[in-house]
Amino acid sequence: MNELNHLAIIMDGNGRWAKNRGFLRNVGHQNGANVVEDIAKFCINESIKNLTLYTFSTENWNRPKSEVEFLISLFKKFLKTKESIFLENEIKFQTIGDILAFDDELVNLMLNLKEKTKDFTKLTLALAVNYGFKDELVRACNKLISEQKQINEENINSALDTASMGDVDLLIRTGGEHRLSNFLLWQSSYAELFFTDTLWPDFTVCELEKIVKKYKNITRKFGGL
Ligand code: IPE
Ligand code: IPE
Ligand code: MG
Repeated sequence: MNELNHLAIIMDGNGRWAKNRGFLRNVGHQNGANVVEDIAKFCINESIKNLTLYTFSTENWNRPKSEVEFLISLFKKFLKTKESIFLENEIKFQTIGDILAFDDELVNLMLNLKEKTKDFTKLTLALAVNYGFKDELVRACNKLISEQKQINEENINSALDTASMGDVDLLIRTGGEHRLSNFLLWQSSYAELFFTDTLWPDFTVCELEKIVKKYKNITRKFGGL
């Protein structure tokens, strides 16, 4: 049975979920945000230590201003109203991506929750916000250059935003597309990839459980025999 240390999810399909019901896209984002709690609790029950959720990509700034603004207000609401879930379940809050692109209120909400939860060890939940792998790699290389460190695998691993979480074991994308959209490309070098047509707001612990079961029985070879 494979260990599952790092689960990463591309939460896609919110807009289509809303459109299918005749709602505005934002309603899909709202319903999508509600799925996160159940998934995090599942991870705790399964002893999955790291969960990374693709929440807002470096390319998502290209969406209409009104949608970007809605998403930012939804992050704020999430951080304010879900704080108790982190505290009660001993979940460490993390982010990957360059958060300084956001306004001060959002940055402070993120930093506050990080500070309050920094000693928790049950689960690290990392939201990928203003995240793109290409940007992460450039920042990591610049960091190494400024510290006069060699560019090698070990140093890159420790300069990436995911340094404390390790490589991705299982990567799931909901919403039916078969692409990685600039998400954790280095960290997923040997990840097992699962794509489901389920739109993110409809994704359930039951479906996740089935995927994890399949994942555990795959022969992972890492280039060996
Ligand atoms: C994913 O859902 C959430 C974000 C990218 C913020 P989408 O908004 O991409 O939903 P679809 O793919 O348009 O249905
Ligand atoms: C990927 O979804 C980003 C997030 C889920 C946050 P997108 O909907 O932005 O990806 P593309 O544009 O279909 O590749
Ligand atoms: Mg999408």
